[in-house]
Amino acid sequence: MRKQGAMLSALVLLVAIPFFQQTKGLANQPAQQADQQAQEPAPPKPIVIPPEAAKKANPVKPTAKSIEAGKRIFDIDCAMCHGENGDGKTDLAKSLGVKLPDFRDPAALGSVTDGGLFYVISKGHSPMPNEDVRAKPEEIWDLVNYIRSLSEKKAPPKTK
Ligand code: HEC
Repeated sequence: MRKQGAMLSALVLLVAIPFFQQTKGLANQPAQQADQQAQEPAPPKPIVIPPEAAKKANPVKPTAKSIEAGKRIFDIDCAMCHGENGDGKTDLAKSLGVKLPDFRDPAALGSVTDGGLFYVISKGHSPMPNEDVRAKPEEIWDLVNYIRSLSEKKAPPKTK
């Protein structure tokens, strides 16, 4: 009987020790970082735009009014990651470990159609949230028009 009891506590210890090591590991920094690295998929998933979405024509003309409306939404919903000037060099992007396109560079989105931009902004691309839950389609087209305006030679319209 005694012997069995001792064996049982030995068994409990064997199970318990790795468990304790694990919980201890979670509390200290290097182990936590290693944990995060293990969870992070190495290359970010490429953005896939369905061909029908890419073909969708932009129904909203890039008027000053549309571009200004887009800028207002961008400053609130997008600038924290993409930067107020659209260059994508923000602390949040850095801490999320993502490299964002510079919207001021005409080459950055040159191959993406307006319909494609509408799709990506609507559906999001982790960690980018999907905008279709908080903006109407017309407002998302305003965002498309605003982003396009950033890579044009002229400065974006002043809102003041
Ligand atoms: C949490 C950070 C975050 C926020 C907020 C965010 N984005 Fe993004 N955005 C990203 C990431 C990450 C990508 C993908 C970069 C990559 O993989 O190339 C991206 C990509 C894009 C692209 C490029 C699409 C392409 O085809 O290359 C556009 C356009 C864009 N975002 C617009 C927006 C707009 C407009 C908003 C606001 C409504 C917004 N983003 C909000 C993180 C964010």
